Amino acid sequence: MRHDSSIVEFQRKRGGDSAAFFVPFLASDMILLDAGCGPGTITAALAGIVGTAVGVDIEPHAIVAADRLASTSGLTNLAFVEADMTALPFGDETFDAVFFHAVLYHQDGAALTRTLAEARRVLKPGGVIGTRDADVGGNILHPELDGVRLALDLWQRWYEHDDPEALLFGRRQSSLLRARGFTPIWSSAGYVNHSADATSRSEAVADARRSLLGLGPQLVSKGLATDGEIQAALAGWDAWGADPDAVYFRCRCECVARKD
Ligand SMILES: C[S@@+](CC[C@H](N)C(=O)[O-])C[C@H]1O[C@@H](n2cnc3c(N)ncnc32)[C@H](O)[C@@H]1O
Repeated sequence: MRHDSSIVEFQRKRGGDSAAFFVPFLASDMILLDAGCGPGTITAALAGIVGTAVGVDIEPHAIVAADRLASTSGLTNLAFVEADMTALPFGDETFDAVFFHAVLYHQDGAALTRTLAEARRVLKPGGVIGTRDADVGGNILHPELDGVRLALDLWQRWYEHDDPEALLFGRRQSSLLRARGFTPIWSSAGYVNHSADATSRSEAVADARRSLLGLGPQLVSKGLATDGEIQAALAGWDAWGADPDAVYFRCRCECVARKD
């Protein structure tokens, strides 16, 4: 699975919102696991709602950042552990709730099956799993400038080449959870707003530039894009960012399921 630093940076700014859909299923006496917690922003927000929140991530630098957040937060019911979510270092039936945010969609079928089997193993009977992931089919972009359409097309070419299942992952969460033995009890979708004001628009352009510049050499080396297309896509985002009425809302699908 790739570690997308631009997504982690983005989530760092928006901890609580990302888990709002899961909050009605949580209670103050629960033990919660946030799997693939990244910098721990969402874990910390959830620690304010449950009894104990534990975040795990496979990346040591994510755990360093999360530990720093824990020590400055003043929260005493928050812990982070460096671990692989496909082989969790916890006993059976340890947690009341397991949460995955922007984590599952890049996994191949075998890793997804292992991860969800582990989530099931560590959940108590009756425990809940919450998942939230992207679905490009629901994104809203305006104005659809040629260069920005090209940029989205370049990302799509990459995902179709690298991981075609990831593009519309969000809408498939309920069926994926059901196929692995959970009982889905709630589904929804929301938007992440990349265009609330001039600051968030310029952050969106910076994120898009970082992502395109990171992906560009791989797209070109695999014959999926030309240097000219990368430059046109970058110029497209710059033009989009200069429009004070430009909007970009990215779809996130949400699912809650129970371990019966
Ligand atoms: C896009 S980030 C999302 C971070 C966080 N959930 C959020 O939304 O802010 C995906 C995270 O999953 C972690 N990850 C990927 N594979 C993992 C694995 N096998 N076990 C644990 N963490 C993993 C990555 O290191 C990364 O921090």
